[in-house]
Amino acid sequence: MTRRLRTVAGRRILGAMAMQGVASAAATERFRQRFASCDPCHFRRFQDVWASSIGLGTYLGDSDDATDAQYAQAIETALARGCNVIDTAINYRCQRSERTIGRTLQRLAHEQTITRDELLLCTKGGYLPFDQSVPADPARYLARTVIEPGLAQPDEIVAGCHCLAPSYLAHALRTSLANLRVSSVDVYYLHNPEQQLDEVPLTVLHERLRQAFELLERCATDGILRNYGIATWQGLRANPRATEYVALEPLVRLAESIAGPAHHFRAIQLPYNLAMPEAAAFTNQSVDGEPLTPLAAAERLGLSVAISASLLQQRLARLPAGLDRYLPGPCTDAQRALNLVRSTPGVCTALVGMKQRAHVEENLALAQQPPYTAQQVTQLFDRSLR
Ligand SMILES: NC(=O)c1ccc[n+]([C@@H]2O[C@H](COP(=O)([O-])OP(=O)(O)OC[C@H]3O[C@@H](n4cnc5c(N)ncnc54)[C@H](OP(=O)(O)O)[C@@H]3O)[C@@H](O)[C@H]2O)c1
Repeated sequence: MTRRLRTVAGRRILGAMAMQGVASAAATERFRQRFASCDPCHFRRFQDVWASSIGLGTYLGDSDDATDAQYAQAIETALARGCNVIDTAINYRCQRSERTIGRTLQRLAHEQTITRDELLLCTKGGYLPFDQSVPADPARYLARTVIEPGLAQPDEIVAGCHCLAPSYLAHALRTSLANLRVSSVDVYYLHNPEQQLDEVPLTVLHERLRQAFELLERCATDGILRNYGIATWQGLRANPRATEYVALEPLVRLAESIAGPAHHFRAIQLPYNLAMPEAAAFTNQSVDGEPLTPLAAAERLGLSVAISASLLQQRLARLPAGLDRYLPGPCTDAQRALNLVRSTPGVCTALVGMKQRAHVEENLALAQQPPYTAQQVTQLFDRSLR
């Protein structure tokens, strides 16, 4: 760790004792070798580095010290069990998730338990965050921290909480780097861009994304981020006729138009689980005129995929009776549900929110197990969609 100055969109940030670098092919290979007892399919290619098939998410939980302490322990346990993907967002738990990750990783790096380049550290910007706790007057707080300093114009803020303006995103990225105590992140996702479609037409969203992508390409060139992408909830799995629908191919073409074939728009995140099968089962995207599912389209477009809500926010930790016939194995319901997600062709990493150490142990035990076959996955959805 060294002391170094970096810039985001021309503004200097002091990376005081920030962990330097990003995931590298050599270091993630070293991490993979440390977990040689894992099933060979546990580590997959996320662009040119190795990523674990199970990643730690940090969305849920109260904004308090007790939950920070739980997440700190969960992160340490996950890294020790072969998980090298950590996912967060600036707004999660009022920035506490990012700050807890930063504190924990810095301690583990100091203790030489991990190195920064072994990990894929992913965060998101778009939702306006609170600071440590929800303020008494959220609207007043956001006006004071976003509008008054000139980070965004009022008409650039949607639903009172979401903004993709480059000046705001540059500030959000700087703040995330400081929270995470790193010089750069591996993936910077634009968070639920379809939220904008509540208030603006698709043409305006595309123009806002163009400006955001231009910023993010500059940040990639400056070494502030390795890749960027979009993390959606409804967008990528919606019906193409729905207002919130987001088509993937035009966004990749947009990135190509800005930075050419070596652009850095390389990742997507979307929910997928037993109750939300669209990523694998809904042909709602197309590439070069060919209808494809979101997962197949991502693969065709060279995008790596992380899955959110693998357990449907815990509701799939208890499965309906009878499903074990289709999801066999000596495992718990949560492990079956999670194994289905990580086994689906096209999925790199299944993110699971886990702040309880027991959940980390249970979920990462799957790293030792083989995934289901593609046929087992397909058969299940053939049945569930009939
Ligand atoms: N639009 C977006 O960008 C978006 C949306 C949602 C999520 N995400 C990302 O995806 C990650 C995963 O999604 P999520 O956290 O919303 O939902 P999830 O992973 O489907 O479920 C997390 C919940 O399941 C519980 N759990 C985990 N393992 C369990 C086990 N073995 N047995 C029983 N319960 C278990 C967790 O409890 P404990 O926490 O108490 O351990 C937590 O309450 C998020 O953390 C976030 O990083 C992104």
